[in-house]
Amino acid sequence: MGFVQRTKSCGELRAAHENQIVSLNGWAHKVRDLGGVVFIDLRDRTGLTQLTLDPANFPNLGEIKNESCLSVTGTVRVRAEATKNPKMATGDIEVVVTSYSILGAAKPLPFPVSDEDQMTSVNEELRIKHRYLDLRRPSMYRRMAIRGSALRRIRAYLDQQSFIEIETPIITKSTPEGARDYLVAYRLNPGMWYALPQSPQQYKQLLMVAGIERYYQIARCFRDESSRADRQPEFTQLDLEMSFVTQEDILNLAEGLMIDVVNGLIEEFGLDKEKVEPFERMTYDEAMFLYGCDKPDLRFGLRLFDLTDAVKDSEFGVFKNTIESGGMIRGVRYPGGAKLSRKEVGVLEEFCKEFGAKGMASLAVETPGPDAVDGSYVSKNGLTVRSSIAKFFTEAQLDAILEASKAEAGDLICIIADNYATGNNVLYRLRLEIGNRCNLRDPRILKYAWVLDFPLVEWDAENGRWSPSHHPFTMPKEEDLIHLDTDPGRIRADCYDMVVNGMECASGSIRIHRTDVQSRIFTLLGIDEKTQQERFGHMLEAFSYGAPPHGGIAPGIDRLVMILTDTENIREVIAFPKTGNGYDPMMDAPSTVDAQQWAELGLRISK
Ligand code: AMO
Repeated sequence: MGFVQRTKSCGELRAAHENQIVSLNGWAHKVRDLGGVVFIDLRDRTGLTQLTLDPANFPNLGEIKNESCLSVTGTVRVRAEATKNPKMATGDIEVVVTSYSILGAAKPLPFPVSDEDQMTSVNEELRIKHRYLDLRRPSMYRRMAIRGSALRRIRAYLDQQSFIEIETPIITKSTPEGARDYLVAYRLNPGMWYALPQSPQQYKQLLMVAGIERYYQIARCFRDESSRADRQPEFTQLDLEMSFVTQEDILNLAEGLMIDVVNGLIEEFGLDKEKVEPFERMTYDEAMFLYGCDKPDLRFGLRLFDLTDAVKDSEFGVFKNTIESGGMIRGVRYPGGAKLSRKEVGVLEEFCKEFGAKGMASLAVETPGPDAVDGSYVSKNGLTVRSSIAKFFTEAQLDAILEASKAEAGDLICIIADNYATGNNVLYRLRLEIGNRCNLRDPRILKYAWVLDFPLVEWDAENGRWSPSHHPFTMPKEEDLIHLDTDPGRIRADCYDMVVNGMECASGSIRIHRTDVQSRIFTLLGIDEKTQQERFGHMLEAFSYGAPPHGGIAPGIDRLVMILTDTENIREVIAFPKTGNGYDPMMDAPSTVDAQQWAELGLRISK
């Protein structure tokens, strides 16, 4: 079926095109029938142009519905001054249509594609069910364009650094990255299964054994894990690996790449962001101690502080008991929090309890004034401390609390007494909550950092064994190997995370490349020799044919685009995402399959 192809795009027409005859192809973004005249904003991926149609010339204009696909031909006319629209790039002109054809008629829409404000209240599952319509919205198109450009920039950068792009298999063997596998039945031998890769981890290491030296892939990864705002069952990594490198080489490469890509995108798309600066670095232990988590939001300070020593001799029973049972007394400062009412402080305490705190102690810090109440303590430097627990502390102890917290007049000192892990989790959440309340999490700033020296393993109390903090191929620090048989929890690894604004955006490590070390680590993880051979025999064997020292990293592409586009949910940056429970309402997947397919695969449901 022929049609008149466009001579111009909808975003490019200006007053300089006056009187030109143009043809446009696109969608009827908004149809407005004013009786004597019909206006249609015609949209293509480059923008909008206003069309003017005279109903006297076109008796069937009613057939053009919102989102009909059109080809139009007409003359560019400069609008009268009063009707120019400065908010539209093409707002100085309109096209007076002389002929049109409907290339694709549109039914009544499930949601108002052209109305961004109304779209915010549309049910998300309905949007995903009609994703081909949802993606027509300029805001969605822009996210896809940013994503596409990010991939193009990544490839250009790595090509310049002599990397080669290699595709690794999608139907393969289970790789342990901490989630459940998606399995694919094998028809030729019922009962045997492929797994979809949780990441190309093993293949990329085998490529290093193969002498590729510098590999990357824009890799699709599959993980059957519980859904979260920053997780999808199917997501994309920039997966890369290098041989004959140190951790420092990988950090420098990944940092240079990220700065280049992000700053390039900020410029290309005019994103409202400050340029990314070289990354801060801290160890895992420092991050946990100062921010209570391994992915700190560094757009603001409010570091946690330790009061255990300052209050160890206090009369306050809660603190005393916590310290005696090996716990710690730590806190965070709430700027301006002194003005909170008792009820509001109660709400904050309830917030802490949600994350496992038994309670939250607090001290309001004020300048001394006429309304200083009984029980207030005035410190050496003129600050008043108001708190129902102040009476349990000596003046020296209160001074030490003020000093450790660096509190200023107007602040609330929030204190959690608990074991280190619980206290950290509570204070991590509380610090972010305070950051939100005080507007300290500026969306214009992208604060990247490296968190280094993760522990090699963590104790998995549920299963009574050690589990890898990253994955089982991560290299332990040589100097910590002495703890392997006695205190494995103390072994640090050459393992690093890239974090931005409180989100983990990449993870990587130097890998084990020796069969004996790899086997010892598998044993530590409770994998006996027989299972090692069954599951990882190919890795152990490959390492015995001259494997080079190697390491790598994998930044998440979806999370990169989320952070650049200020989207709270990963689904907004994926063309065809799954809903929370892994369902694709558009394709209706997963779905049933024919009885014959079951039979071919030798499968049946057990009751
Ligand atoms: P890891 O499992 O930490 O490491 O993943 C690396 C990065 O991938 C992103 N990511 C996800 N994004 C969306 N949805 C998910 N479900 C999801 N899971 C992870 C994150 C994360 O930082 N093979 C190793 C990498 C390596 O060692 O080189 C790996 O996959 O941005």
